Amino acid sequence: MSDSELRVVEDPASEVAALLTESAAGGGQVVLTGGSTPKRAYEQAAGADWSAATVWFSDERCVPPDHRDSNFGMVEAALLSRVSAAPEVVRMQGELGPDAGAGAYEAEIRARLGGDPRWDLLLLGMGPDGHVASLFPGKPEVEETGRLVAGVPVAGMEPQVPRISLTLPAIDAARSVVLLITGAGKADTVARAFGPSPDPALPATRVRPRHGSLVVILDEAAAAKL
Ligand code: 6PG
Repeated sequence: MSDSELRVVEDPASEVAALLTESAAGGGQVVLTGGSTPKRAYEQAAGADWSAATVWFSDERCVPPDHRDSNFGMVEAALLSRVSAAPEVVRMQGELGPDAGAGAYEAEIRARLGGDPRWDLLLLGMGPDGHVASLFPGKPEVEETGRLVAGVPVAGMEPQVPRISLTLPAIDAARSVVLLITGAGKADTVARAFGPSPDPALPATRVRPRHGSLVVILDEAAAAKL
């Protein structure tokens, strides 16, 4: 059982930017996520020294990297295009489609970090349905116990394109998992996931790092119903 901590802060983006900065400067294996919430944190972390770090992805939409829905594209615009010295970037190749893209990423992870990849920092967001990465409630990929990366043929939410996603075994291998959640629109799901009786149907409640800790960073609005 891992430690977990709920942290309600005034400025979640700065808090996450500080964690990214520290991990990047230490030459960390850093896993970034998509969605709109982490953009400000990425922009703030662009001033860090990323030159010795390696950037990985929690999930990707099956679109080319220059498509407006690409998670890589968002990270490129908010962070990678702004840093003074680029990190090594191991991108999920959405353009290969879910199965080939997942297979290629699984091979990269195993070749570089082995079958129990101890990411130094793994950042996630949470959708209003409680999904993390592209692990959607009720979908078979949430139950994966062997593979590190899954192809997700049917997404549970917009944009309705297939996805590539780290699985729970890959996420739970991290030394530190940070879940960043903001906004009143997530308050009900935050209460269901992290209140007194966590709902196991929500993928967010299933994250249990094997070798480290989970920190949930919330703003007041997202934490309002806890
Ligand atoms: C994705 C993400 C996903 C995201 C949540 C939260 O590809 O969509 O990686 O897991 O983190 O959906 O997204 P928002 O920050 O946009 O609410």
